[in-house]
Amino acid sequence: MKKPAFDVVVFGATSFVGQILCRYLHEEFGTASKPGARQLRWAIAGRSKAKLDELLASLGASAKSIELIIADAADEKALESLCASTRVVVSTVGPYALYGEPLVKTCTRLGTDYCDLSGEPPWMRKMIEAYSDAAKKSGARIVHCCGFDSIPSDMGVRFLQEQSRLQFGAPCTQVKMRVKAMRGTASGGTVASIVNIVREATHNPALRKELINPYSLCPPDAIKASARQTNVSGPVFDADFSAWSAPFVMAAVNVRVVLRSNALLANAYGREFRYDEAMLTGPGFGGRVKAIGITAGLGGFIAAAAIAPTRWLMEKTLLPAPGEGPSPDAQKKGFFDLRFVGRTDDGRELRVKVTGDRDPGYGSTAKMLGESAACLALDVSKKEVSGGFWTPSTALGARLHERLVTHAGLKFDVLA
Ligand SMILES: NC(=O)c1ccc[n+]([C@@H]2O[C@H](COP(=O)([O-])OP(=O)(O)OC[C@H]3O[C@@H](n4cnc5c(N)ncnc54)[C@H](OP(=O)(O)O)[C@@H]3O)[C@@H](O)[C@H]2O)c1
Repeated sequence: MKKPAFDVVVFGATSFVGQILCRYLHEEFGTASKPGARQLRWAIAGRSKAKLDELLASLGASAKSIELIIADAADEKALESLCASTRVVVSTVGPYALYGEPLVKTCTRLGTDYCDLSGEPPWMRKMIEAYSDAAKKSGARIVHCCGFDSIPSDMGVRFLQEQSRLQFGAPCTQVKMRVKAMRGTASGGTVASIVNIVREATHNPALRKELINPYSLCPPDAIKASARQTNVSGPVFDADFSAWSAPFVMAAVNVRVVLRSNALLANAYGREFRYDEAMLTGPGFGGRVKAIGITAGLGGFIAAAAIAPTRWLMEKTLLPAPGEGPSPDAQKKGFFDLRFVGRTDDGRELRVKVTGDRDPGYGSTAKMLGESAACLALDVSKKEVSGGFWTPSTALGARLHERLVTHAGLKFDVLA
């Protein structure tokens, strides 16, 4: 078979996050004609040549030689030649439930590896069910959730379990992640993806049932053997952190990914492994009021997104439109600080933290996604990891950890 021309093609290069990703790849890897210190043959793809040209112009004169591929997300012929040209397609064309399936279908048919930023569990469950057999047969490795959801959670739990095995000789069968602090806002594309899930769920009782099942991304045999998971759905005082906590919006994705990782690792974290996530809001009366405010705000947003007239009003007035998001300055000033506490079956405790040096949803996400794509293309052979639907930690493991720490501004530390 002909060797693909590229290691990585960015599909959706003109999206808000795709543009940040291309800037990152350009800075880190240069171009084919002007390579950087690190090597990666990469190209950009999207549906509009004019917009792709504009993106290249914004990257500067040295980006002129980056190749463009024109493909619409619904055009399977164009997707076929895109997939044949590269080892990995990284897609930021979302909402994935609206546009993502033809690309996953094509990758799994042709054996092209794929990663994305999907934070849409019902769509991922659908893709796993429909295309797992094809991926296993063709050798395509499909890795969803390579951004803020769910790399810090999935790789953070992986790190904690590695440390737990080193220190205690056993995994922590109960782990919780708490967002200690973060600064960053959502883009139009992310908001569109959340609103799309809420809209679909209002007309679909089966989907509503799926959305409350923490094991929805696990293989069916893993579900039968699994522990009852707790879910922080309102203000709760957390004695482990001596602070109040509130629901964390990304938990709906992260918990499912971490539980899938455990299932794919044949329950290496324990058959009765329990995991949950929440946001810390501080101690005392102030922390409690903040936790109540976050809970009410989240509930209000979901209720408003479920009803057509308020959804329309929110989309027109309050929410960022697709293509909009935080400024470069806000991305630079952003950060995140996540704390994990784990306990073994015999009650020993381990605490770790994971931090990032940019706003979680864009600056950091673009670096995590770029390193995931490069890792999938260059570091992990098809012999080591075979075709199928993986999670970031189970497909890319130690090699991704190394890249995140060395290049993407993430830190993983054991706390005393
Ligand atoms: N997991 C995370 O941590 C995380 C973080 C950030 C974003 N996200 C997700 O990433 C996705 C992108 O977010 P964003 O804010 O960057 O989105 P965005 O700015 O709204 O961009 C959407 C992209 O999709 C492209 N597109 C739409 N329809 C298409 C079609 N038929 N064919 C080809 N391309 C098409 C658009 O192309 P044009 O430019 O030509 O219109 C654009 O490039 C969303 O699903 C969002 O939820 C996830």
